[in-house]
Amino acid sequence: MIDLRSDTVTAPSAAMREVIASAPVGDDVYGDDPAVNALEERVAALFGKEAGLFTPTGSLANQLMMRTLVQPGQEILAETNSHVVRAELGAAATFSGITSRTWLAPSGTLRAEDPLAIAAPNAGPYLVSTAAIAIENTHNFGGGTVQPLDQMKLLHEQAHEMGIAIHLDGARIWNAHVASGVTLAEYGNSVLVTRALELFSLADVDPAIANIIAYNLADSIDAVAMTTLRGGSNVIYSGSTATSTADALLALATALGTRDQASAAVDAAAEATDAANAATDAANAAAEAADAATAAAQDAADAVAALSTQVSEMVAALKKQITSLTNLVIKIQKKVRA
Ligand SMILES: Cc1ncc(COP(=O)(O)O)c(C=O)c1O
Repeated sequence: MIDLRSDTVTAPSAAMREVIASAPVGDDVYGDDPAVNALEERVAALFGKEAGLFTPTGSLANQLMMRTLVQPGQEILAETNSHVVRAELGAAATFSGITSRTWLAPSGTLRAEDPLAIAAPNAGPYLVSTAAIAIENTHNFGGGTVQPLDQMKLLHEQAHEMGIAIHLDGARIWNAHVASGVTLAEYGNSVLVTRALELFSLADVDPAIANIIAYNLADSIDAVAMTTLRGGSNVIYSGSTATSTADALLALATALGTRDQASAAVDAAAEATDAANAATDAANAAAEAADAATAAAQDAADAVAALSTQVSEMVAALKKQITSLTNLVIKIQKKVRA
């Protein structure tokens, strides 16, 4: 009997269990898990993304992407019956301070104009600004609706122009891929997809039971999120903007470092200028002091010269007086003797 309540009730086959049991493992925190590393690289490549991040559940993938794309106090738009709005316990609000508004679509079928009609990217100081739009492919509560690619592209293009990011909850992107024939690469906007399950040697597994992919289309470039193997093993692959975020942070740090260096250089230049000005002032003061000293010395020399002239004149006058006195004394003596 085939249990059609949900794809989530499926269990891994013996072959799948064998591959899982013999998979090389390691500490993923240190980047030491070869299977996780290979999975992240492979799925990122399949979707034409620069990086991927493994997460243990699709809900976590959704939450991470919403938190990455939307700041607290901003909003994400989503269809009324989407998983992020109805089935994740309001975690985006609880954990990340994100509010949401919804649009209602029959069977969850995307029409780009619906979210665009309510999008408000720069709502001003009081209203909530739209930072992202979440779409779902296939749409679960819509009944497994495969989204029209042209509407996804149109939405992505127009949202991009408005500065709004797109998050695609691709829990069942492979269902969409199988049903529509649109490649994962096309969904991811580049690399051609061949066998995404090869990593687990699961070629014998029906894609319908191994196809939960949480896939992030944030700006169609940065990242990919993906899940393989629903049921039992529940291996989920989630994309993130980790690499580009790290790059951005690095660039920011570099820019800040350069700015700090530049401002340190400006400070040093200002200090050097101050020092040079102080040295110039000191030199000017010294020159003025030297001029004053020279003038004082000159004055002193002039005064000494004037004094010595006066003294010489006085000496000469005294000599004359002494001579005439002497003559007078001689005359008086002569008269006294006579
Ligand atoms: C559309 C959609 N997104 C996300 C999820 C969450 O996946 P998980 O149960 O691994 O958290 C589901 C689960 O079925 C889903 O249908």
